[in-house]
Amino acid sequence: MTRAPTSVRTVPPALEGRALVQAFGAQTVLRGVSVAVQPGEVVAVTGPSGSGKSTLLHLLGGLDTPQSGEVHWAGERVDSLGTQLRAQRRAAQLGLVFQHHYLLEDLTVLDNVLIPTRLSGRGDGVRARDLLARVGLSGREDAYPGVLSGGERQRVAVARALAAHPAVVLADEPTGSLDRANAQAVAQLLVNLAREEGAGVLLVTHDDRLTRYADRTLHLLDGQFTDEAPDFA
Ligand SMILES: Nc1ncnc2c1ncn2[C@@H]1O[C@H](COP(=O)(O)OP(=O)(O)OP(=O)(O)O)[C@@H](O)[C@H]1O
Ligand SMILES: [Mg+2]
Repeated sequence: MTRAPTSVRTVPPALEGRALVQAFGAQTVLRGVSVAVQPGEVVAVTGPSGSGKSTLLHLLGGLDTPQSGEVHWAGERVDSLGTQLRAQRRAAQLGLVFQHHYLLEDLTVLDNVLIPTRLSGRGDGVRARDLLARVGLSGREDAYPGVLSGGERQRVAVARALAAHPAVVLADEPTGSLDRANAQAVAQLLVNLAREEGAGVLLVTHDDRLTRYADRTLHLLDGQFTDEAPDFA
């Protein structure tokens, strides 16, 4: 028996989904989808409405478990972990940004950014302030989300997603509720910050203008990734 040559041990992907299958009742939404995001890599996912982009993100984020297939974060299989352990791993490994910012309205901007690190007992005000400065929100630390514009709120959500030094940021239409100029600005900030931090990004977007910020783009169609770039608009 020949053995594979000993190769240099490589860093595991920041995020990996292997042969993910998910169905809701009789409807099979994902038919064996595999994807890997390397540390520092930005991957965009596009596809028509209803093609399963959010379903895939929920599986990769461990918010739901696949019917079959595996999810790994930074080399560790997590879909088979219990809910509590998986939540701990999620807090340490993942940043999440959704279309809606999900900021807590009765916490200040700074306290919102501190949430992920406080959960893991590593609250770091210096880092939170630094991230807020890097998304252009210096001086707004003590403001409440209610007085911020939509773009500003989403920039807080971006800072919050990176607060705990995640291996990867999962973003589901993070700019979907913003106008065009703000959408581009927020997407660019997210990608630049993640690159500076060495975090991977998986960015779900309908917006072709945002895929230019990605290293590569995957198209979801009929429950699988396709090489073609169909016209979804
Ligand atoms: N919890 C659920 N129960 C039943 N059906 C679901 C559930 N979540 C998603 N679906 C169905 O799975 C399909 C894919 O939904 P999903 O939200 O993943 O699509 P999407 O690509 O994110 O669409 P959009 O671009 O509109 O956000 C849809 O037909 C949806 O109705
Ligand atoms: Mg969706």
